[in-house]
Amino acid sequence: MNFLDLFEKQSLIGAHRGDRVHFAENTLSALEGAKNRCNFIEIDTQLSKDGIAIIMHDATLERTTNVTKLKEFAHKKPFRVCDFTLKELEKLDYGTWFKGVPEPLLTLHQALRFIKQNKLFLNLEIKDMHNTFEDTQVIQTLMREIHETDTHQQLLISSFRHQYLKLCKPLPTAALVENKHPHNLVHYLKKLKVDAYHFNKKLVCETKIKHLRERGFFINIYTLNDPNEAKELFSMGVNGIFTDDLDKMASKRYDDAKL
Ligand code: G3P
Repeated sequence: MNFLDLFEKQSLIGAHRGDRVHFAENTLSALEGAKNRCNFIEIDTQLSKDGIAIIMHDATLERTTNVTKLKEFAHKKPFRVCDFTLKELEKLDYGTWFKGVPEPLLTLHQALRFIKQNKLFLNLEIKDMHNTFEDTQVIQTLMREIHETDTHQQLLISSFRHQYLKLCKPLPTAALVENKHPHNLVHYLKKLKVDAYHFNKKLVCETKIKHLRERGFFINIYTLNDPNEAKELFSMGVNGIFTDDLDKMASKRYDDAKL
């Protein structure tokens, strides 16, 4: 079984940045919290200054770490992740900002090991780093981690930077879109050779969903925290949704949602 086989099931629930209602997003605790409470977990990855893949959503560290409180980093404003080495990133606290509970940095390597050990499925979103790193460097780094942890079977790779996706093949991939569907969508997705299409709920259109499903693309929509809204999308043929709130959206256990 690999990630694409998951799509044989209906109404998939993806934990957006882990269980981010109860734990600081994109931390090991957030992964632990989402374990067995969803069909798959979604997290974000980007590279440190010295090219190590870490788990973090924002391009800067201000919102989800204590970086502004540490004098030694004051000169690094606006605190871009790509301006910090792994060693520097390890000095920060990734949890206190949320509910007062300190959390360590989560590297991609650690996240993949967790996914492997727990036989879970993971949607890894690659943040757009084209201003700092060559596409090939980004993908080679990620592929090395995936290879070392032997997690190929458990992953779906997605990105708003679609150039990355072709480089990730033969892994399952999904194109992410926020504001506007690309022109000539089916042709566009075919050229990218993606398996799935992920888009913001504000772009939902039933005709488009049916058309894409008939052409064989899997569809996951973000971000939904209302079960009725999710039900409506599933009835249109959507495969999965991303949610922050597993309590509301995922009432059953997902022991069967394992590799
Ligand atoms: O991958 C789905 C969703 O997470 C995309 O939006 O802003 O959370 O990366 P964002």
